[in-house]
Amino acid sequence: MQRLEASGGSVPFSTYMEWVLHDPHHGAYGTGRLRIGPAGDFATAPSLGPDFAALLAPQLADWLQELAGSSCGGLGAEAPLALVETGPGEGSLALQLAQALAAGWPDLAACTELVLVEPNAGMAERQRALLQASPLPCRWASFAELAAAPVRGVLLAHEVLDALAVERIVWDGALWRQQVVALHKDPAAGPSLRLEPGEPLEPAAAAQLAALGLLPPSPQRPPGWCTELHPGLLPWLAGAAAALKAGPLLVIDYALEAWRYYAPQRSAGTLMAYRGQLASSDPLQEPGTWDLTAHLCLESLLAAATSSGWQLLGQVRQGEALLALGLAERLHGLQQGSAADLGALLARREALLRLVDPHALGDFRWVALARGMAVEAPRFSREPGPSAIG
Ligand SMILES: C[S@@+](CC[C@H](N)C(=O)[O-])C[C@H]1O[C@@H](n2cnc3c(N)ncnc32)[C@H](O)[C@@H]1O
Repeated sequence: MQRLEASGGSVPFSTYMEWVLHDPHHGAYGTGRLRIGPAGDFATAPSLGPDFAALLAPQLADWLQELAGSSCGGLGAEAPLALVETGPGEGSLALQLAQALAAGWPDLAACTELVLVEPNAGMAERQRALLQASPLPCRWASFAELAAAPVRGVLLAHEVLDALAVERIVWDGALWRQQVVALHKDPAAGPSLRLEPGEPLEPAAAAQLAALGLLPPSPQRPPGWCTELHPGLLPWLAGAAAALKAGPLLVIDYALEAWRYYAPQRSAGTLMAYRGQLASSDPLQEPGTWDLTAHLCLESLLAAATSSGWQLLGQVRQGEALLALGLAERLHGLQQGSAADLGALLARREALLRLVDPHALGDFRWVALARGMAVEAPRFSREPGPSAIG
């Protein structure tokens, strides 16, 4: 509240979202307050167990192998390749992938380092503790630091782009306006935060609306209709491109096509708050203690990727990707497990089903991009060959 007052009483929603997530002293991620996992604030695919990483690992190994060519001299060689994870959360996916690579592809693992890109000190501290067990050497670096000596490797962005600050925009019946978070002082009830329409949109944002089909406004969107734009995507993708000399980028996140994202009936956008396994549509409650997240718009992601030098390799829903990578076989394999481990087997079965459930994590999108090299289409989005038909 003091910071809002010092900023003149109101700030764009994106500034508020940046503060409440990333402020080092008060932010939900900045302080490391948020805990990821079924017993924490919210669960993510890797926090459900190691099966997600085990299914993903062969795809990453394919890519690393393509990059290695003849440059990977086997055990003891200086690490010429990098597995870069941005937004590693608790560090569990990075650890599980490092372990899977070391177990399944030891020669490749011997010439691969793990690079973690995490701007929040509170989160990085827990990642450092967990990754002491990593069989791959680890280091933490920002995109700017990597840009000084770009790496060749695979860049992974699992549930991180949904944490980039979004701009909320609201239709007032005549104009699109940037939504602001404003401080209200009521002598009786005390100060409170409110969402209010602010200034009309800048021409650049209005051009984005036109590209997304939101101009001219439709009568189906009444005054008060509100949604999000993603000004953080382009700088993030440009930063990622500068950090990676050559290799693929795999984005795994909540994403919707523009026609679903901006459908008239989605009148309050996709922004949600999460804490203690609860979901709320109120982004203003107890700032700095809830995760705030917004879906990605697929077209906006792809446009920003193309204009920052990334080439699209393929994109599919998570359910399809994981089935192509062997989830059904893994599920079937659980039947061979010992009855003594029944509890653990049932938990793994439930986790695997959650990963492909179209009403849960199965609706996530896997978007594979690449730069600096010709890469084969990923295993998870290849068209079935003639032998697979019929
Ligand atoms: C929802 S968590 C995802 C954690 C992990 N990838 C997982 O799936 O369990 C988001 C993570 O991204 C980090 N983060 C937020 N903004 C980021 C940015 N601009 N660059 C890199 N990491 C970021 C957060 O601190 C946190 O570690």
